[in-house]
Amino acid sequence: MTANNQSSFNPGKGTGEPVGVAVLGMGTVGTDVIRLMSENAEHFTHRIGGPLELKGVAVSDLSKERPGVDRDLLTDDARSLITRDDVDVVVEVIGGIDYPRELVLAALNAGKSVVTANKALVAAHADELAEAADAAGVDLYFEAAVAAAIPVVGMLRRSLAGDQINRIFGIVNGTTNYILDAMTSTGADYDDALAEATRLGYAEADPTADVEGHDAASKAAIMASLGFHTRVKFDDVHCEGITQITADDIEAAKKAGYVIKLLAICERITDSVGDESVSARVHPTLIPEAHPLASVNESYNAIYVDAEAAGSLMFYGNGAGGAPTASAVLGDLVGAARNKVHGGRAPGENTYAELPLTPFGDVPTRYHIDMSVVDRAGVLADLSARFSRKGISLRTVRQEEQERHSHARLIVVTHQARESDLQDIVKELSELDDVQEITSVIRLDG
Ligand code: NDP
Ligand code: HSE
Repeated sequence: MTANNQSSFNPGKGTGEPVGVAVLGMGTVGTDVIRLMSENAEHFTHRIGGPLELKGVAVSDLSKERPGVDRDLLTDDARSLITRDDVDVVVEVIGGIDYPRELVLAALNAGKSVVTANKALVAAHADELAEAADAAGVDLYFEAAVAAAIPVVGMLRRSLAGDQINRIFGIVNGTTNYILDAMTSTGADYDDALAEATRLGYAEADPTADVEGHDAASKAAIMASLGFHTRVKFDDVHCEGITQITADDIEAAKKAGYVIKLLAICERITDSVGDESVSARVHPTLIPEAHPLASVNESYNAIYVDAEAAGSLMFYGNGAGGAPTASAVLGDLVGAARNKVHGGRAPGENTYAELPLTPFGDVPTRYHIDMSVVDRAGVLADLSARFSRKGISLRTVRQEEQERHSHARLIVVTHQARESDLQDIVKELSELDDVQEITSVIRLDG
């Protein structure tokens, strides 16, 4: 992509001028954006240098009750609303990809700044959107797209722009964290926990995006792009969700002193000859109970950043829900409106580094393998030798008796090795007569 050179200068409307706002979507997030815009109107006027004026709200169903909003402002014609002369900033909180892409591009092309909470859109079309914003000399803000209220985007875009980031990892999906936490702490059923996360407004319109890891993968793509100055798209992120995690996996992890979290891991990887590449991945991960991420519960999110000069930083807070997300949207809205009044533009993305993507098989990781093996002399030695021949060293091997005395449960934790070597050894083990079943394979971090 072309680096954002911020070539177009927005001269500004002048202090005191109102800034017209169109909000697209009035669901979980949009409702709180509109409520807080109204409740804090006077403060926003001072912070911006002119009042925010809500010019219209696009929804899909005009017959729904919308307390707190003048019915005359509602429309089901978003396309017409965004290009109106009295609209300066468009807030997109509809969700999905194709339709919001069309709307956001039309808004940018019409010279409107855009604030979106839509990670799926940004992770799929960041280049195109950034180019349209540059061409029109307007702002494209998306703080709420990653971890809702936690200011991850601003931190990567601005605060750490003078540093080199090596690793960004953490919990970036509230729904799956809520489900895993409920299954771990109360033994809740998966479906019940998902239903509750949906009721609380954490889940996407189609919660498959949450539980299959797609939502976290979009966020990983955005974080990796900003952190490594390299375009990483949704399709570049290796993604595994939590649908395969069973109550038995959670129980076994607990017994071994771990918890299971869905982690997004973005890394700058340096190979043996010093060449750098970038990896972004999302998968269930075992972390030790004493690790700070292990105590991130409910829908909370937490992100660690390792930077060359800053060292390790941790960010924690509300990662989903109407009001926390609205907080991030409104922060962006105030920024975009301020630029409309006073002139200038927000810092954009810069993908000058263009680092290659690390093939997933080359990523260094660790495995926790739970299996049932034939309980006879020599089996353990044979299995250890197989790991050793692949150059994989073992950190711990624990054996537990099983009800069937002819078999034993073997839990192996490896040291770090290449992902492809670890996948190979699992395949090799699964084909052995001595291995009755590989019950679970979960990566381990921390
Ligand atoms: P909801 O499903 O609650 O709301 C979507 C809104 O969009 C509804 O008001 C709906 O209208 C409206 N809409 C749907 N289709 C159209 C259309 N064709 N034209 C106009 N309006 C339409 O979603 P959320 O508020 O939860 O999420 C919105 C965005 O924010 C998504 O991109 C999501 O990923 C992101 N986000 C959500 C977070 C959360 O915790 N919920 C956190 C961070 C980001 P109607 O009301 O008539 O049905
Ligand atoms: N569905 C998302 C989540 C919303 O559960 O984290 C916040 O991006």
